[in-house]
Amino acid sequence: MGASNLQTTNRVLLEVKGLKTYFPLEEGTVRAVDGADFVIERGKTLAVVGESGCGKSVTAQSILRIVPPPGRIIEGELLFHRYTEDKDTFAVADVIDLTKLDPKGKDIRSIRGNEIAMVFQEPMTSLSPVHTMGNQIIETIMLHQQVSKAEARERAIDMLARVGMPRPSVTVDSYPFELSGGMRQRGMIAMALSCQPSLLIADEPTTALDVTTAAQILDLMRELQEEMGMAIHYITHDLGVVAEMADSAVVMYLGKVVEEADVDSLYYNPLHPYTRALLRSIPRITEDRRQWLEAIKGMVPDPYHLPTGCPFHPRCLQAGPECSEIDPPWIEAEPGHWVRCVLYGEGATRADTGRSDSVNHAYGER
Ligand SMILES: Nc1ncnc2c1ncn2[C@@H]1O[C@H](COP(=O)(O)OP(=O)(O)O)[C@@H](O)[C@H]1O
Ligand SMILES: [Mg+2]
Repeated sequence: MGASNLQTTNRVLLEVKGLKTYFPLEEGTVRAVDGADFVIERGKTLAVVGESGCGKSVTAQSILRIVPPPGRIIEGELLFHRYTEDKDTFAVADVIDLTKLDPKGKDIRSIRGNEIAMVFQEPMTSLSPVHTMGNQIIETIMLHQQVSKAEARERAIDMLARVGMPRPSVTVDSYPFELSGGMRQRGMIAMALSCQPSLLIADEPTTALDVTTAAQILDLMRELQEEMGMAIHYITHDLGVVAEMADSAVVMYLGKVVEEADVDSLYYNPLHPYTRALLRSIPRITEDRRQWLEAIKGMVPDPYHLPTGCPFHPRCLQAGPECSEIDPPWIEAEPGHWVRCVLYGEGATRADTGRSDSVNHAYGER
C-alpha cells in the first residue's frame, strides 16, 4: 500500500542535479553550465530565466545530449522519469540518467524528438529548407512510430490543423521559406508535438516574432499543453512573460541556477539578490510611458574570467567580503524554495537586509 501511495504522488518528470557542462577551448574553459539544479513536473511548465549567455541553451542542449563539441557534460545527473501507460496510477516505470547515454546511441535517439522534443528561437535553423513542412513532420513520426507513410501524412495534416495552420492539407506541401515566421514556428511546434512528447523544451520560441504573433504562439502552447498534457521547459530572457506562462521558475546567472520556486513565491518573495535585481529591472507601464525602474549595476563578466566565489558578487548590492570566497551551496531556504546565496541556510553569514527592496518591484503592487 505504502509503495502505491508513493507512486500516485510522484510528479517528477525530469530532475536536473548538479549539472556542469564545459567547453574546453584554446583560450580557456567556458563553464557554460556550472551548477544547474531544478525539477520539471509532469504536465507543468518550468520557466528558465536569465540574461543572454547565462547557460540556458546549453542546459537544454545537455538534456537532449546535443551539446556541440568540444562541449561536454562533466558532472551531474539528468534523471528522466518514464511513467506507465496507466494514467490513473502515474506509477514510475523507469528512471534514466540522460548523462549516462551515448550521445550518438540508439537510447537517446529514441528519446530525442519522441519523448523529449524541442522548438528553437529561429525555426529556419532547425527546419530543412529543401524539404516540405509535411515531409519533415512525416519523417519525425516514421522515425519513432510504426506507421505507414500515408498514416504519418494524415497525422502531419492533423497536427498542422491543431497548431492553427491555415489550409493544412495544402500547407503540408509548403516549404518553410514559403511561410511567415509565425507560421514556421507553428509548423515547428507541430513537428515537435507530432510524437506526443512528455517534455517539450521551448528555447525562446517567440523572440524572433512580433508582439502579436508571439502572444498567439504562447496561447497556442498553453492550449496544446492542456490538450496533450506535456510538460514544458520554457526558456526566456523575459521575466515579464513568466507569470502568465509558468507554474515554477528558475533563475540562472553565469552558468548557475541561483533560485528555484513556484512562480508566486519567486515574484512576491524573491530571495536571491540577483532575482530581486531582475524583478526591479522589469519595465513597468506608468501613465503611458515605459519606465526602467533600475538597471543592474555593472556588466556580465566575460566567460573566461568568471569571478571567484559567488559569480554575482561583483554586481550584488548585498555582497560581503566572504562572497568572493564562498561558492554558496544549493539549499532549500523555505519549503520548495531553493537558493544559492550565503544569506540563507544554516551556514548563513549575515542577515538578509534586502527583503524590503523587493516589495516595490514591478509586480509587487498587483
Ligand atoms: N558551442 C559553443 N562553444 C563555445 N562556447 C559556447 C558554445 N555555446 C555556448 N557557449 C558559451 O556558453 C555560455 C552559455 O551560453 P548559452 O547557453 O547559449 O546562453 P543563453 O542561452 O543563456 O543565452 C556562453 O558564455 C556562451 O558563449
Ligand atoms: Mg540561448
